[in-house]
Amino acid sequence: MTRKITKICCIGAGYVGGPTMSVIAKKCPEITVTVVDINQERIDQWNDSDLSKLPIYEPGLREIVQETRGKNLFFSTDVDKGIEEAEMIFISVNTPTKTYGKGKGQAADLKYVELCARNIAKIAKTDKIVVEKSTLPVRTAAAIKSILDNSGNGVNFEILSNPEFLAEGTAINDLFHADRVLIGGDDTPSGQEAKDSLSSIYEHWLPKERILQTNVWSSELSKLVANAFLAQRVSSINSISALCEKTDANIEEVSKAIGYDSRIGPKFLNASVGFGGSCFQKDILNLVYIARSFGLQEVADYWEQVIILNDYQKSRFVDHMITTLYNTVAGKKIVIYGWAFKKDTNDTRESAAIYVVDALLEENAEITVYDPQVSENKIYADLDYLDTRSPEENRKLLTVTDEPVKAAMEAHAIAILTEWDEFKNLDWQDIYKSMLKPAFVFDGRRLLNKETMDGIGFKYYKIGQK
Ligand code: NAD
Ligand code: UGA
Repeated sequence: MTRKITKICCIGAGYVGGPTMSVIAKKCPEITVTVVDINQERIDQWNDSDLSKLPIYEPGLREIVQETRGKNLFFSTDVDKGIEEAEMIFISVNTPTKTYGKGKGQAADLKYVELCARNIAKIAKTDKIVVEKSTLPVRTAAAIKSILDNSGNGVNFEILSNPEFLAEGTAINDLFHADRVLIGGDDTPSGQEAKDSLSSIYEHWLPKERILQTNVWSSELSKLVANAFLAQRVSSINSISALCEKTDANIEEVSKAIGYDSRIGPKFLNASVGFGGSCFQKDILNLVYIARSFGLQEVADYWEQVIILNDYQKSRFVDHMITTLYNTVAGKKIVIYGWAFKKDTNDTRESAAIYVVDALLEENAEITVYDPQVSENKIYADLDYLDTRSPEENRKLLTVTDEPVKAAMEAHAIAILTEWDEFKNLDWQDIYKSMLKPAFVFDGRRLLNKETMDGIGFKYYKIGQK
């Protein structure tokens, strides 16, 4: 028998918790969904009557929040109340790479997840289904279960793994039309019942055959592996982009030619300045760490190469800029178009732009940044976090603008680091006129047409093309 869920709590109101729960609330009007977070500012933003103040920019999200908030979707800092009232609790907190102790720089930091488990153990008075939504190392559910089973309050907990596969910028569409939903749990009768309860939520809008049930460990591991495979494709095509630049091959033609093979497929073959985002690097490092901890050195080395290649791609781009700009960028004005790690998001975590700009600042370039969704404060915070130079120096060398065309005045070069659609529609003729000559454009996203840019007069470089 499937237990009917009427109250859900999600711990963590971030890029996953917010959109995922908004979609569940929209598709399941009979379920009350409460998203809780310890970050008061974030919760205030989720509750702001001005929907442009939501903490996350995602196409389609505002409309759903407007429709459901206050009806069956609630955002609160009262974590304990959320836990107490819910029948099903999603843990959707951050799991960053550890910055201290054993596994520093590789293993996932599970302290936030463990805190959630301990809190649930302390507060719960009725039976709960606890769902791991965060991306976690294989066998984490065992640790959560051990904490919950030793709460001593007689409450029964079922632990499920239900990793999220949405991509930022397309989160709502990805949730509405998920290729698959993965639910890992025990094969015991109560485990099966919990898996079916969670399945029934997704069945409100997804066909049953797209909901896969597995054991917990397969589910946890599949999430890491899916991200590793996706990132591997980007690194693979980026490695070939370097080879294209040395030959007369064109990376776009190569991508198309191999992508037409139905065994390879056309997606995730866009060469770029390097992948970013909060998860690809973190999850591969985690996979590498797990493999190494089991003594699987060759497996670990294989996956680590995906990250090594990604770092190479970013530094290769900077090196090419410097060499082209007559081996020095000191005192030169360089305008950066795009700071987010991809278009249609305000998320900048691990964005290639941060590392490209940091390297240019090391060469004493004068940088001006434009991004349609990322705030000035965030840009400075990202650079300050690297701790390469003082915050004062960062503010001296870098300015942020909301006028991309005007910013190009007297600039030596422009670098396109995020593929925002609006960059295609800028008045490039006007931009060319106001720049110093020769006017260089370094396109790290292959966004613009080479013939058009050459025709205007630019010295235009497109990654993956000689
Ligand atoms: P995030 O940093 O945007 O959000 C996490 C939130 O959890 C924060 O607001 C934080 O304040 C809150 N939090 C931390 N500890 C808490 C606690 N003890 N009690 C209450 N709230 C707490 O992170 P995210 O991007 O949403 O990622 C969450 C998880 O989902 C990660 O494991 C990530 O790997 C995974 N994931 C992310 C994406 C993505 O696109 N961002 C996609 C799939 C999976
Ligand atoms: C990725 C996965 O696509 C999601 O399935 C997963 O849920 C998520 O990670 C996660 O676990 O966090 P996301 O990082 O949001 O999603 O965005 P992607 O579209 O995967 O792009 C990641 C990076 O790769 C971006 O910087 C993007 O510009 C770059 N990329 C992607 C390329 O350079 N080329 C491509 O062909 C595709």
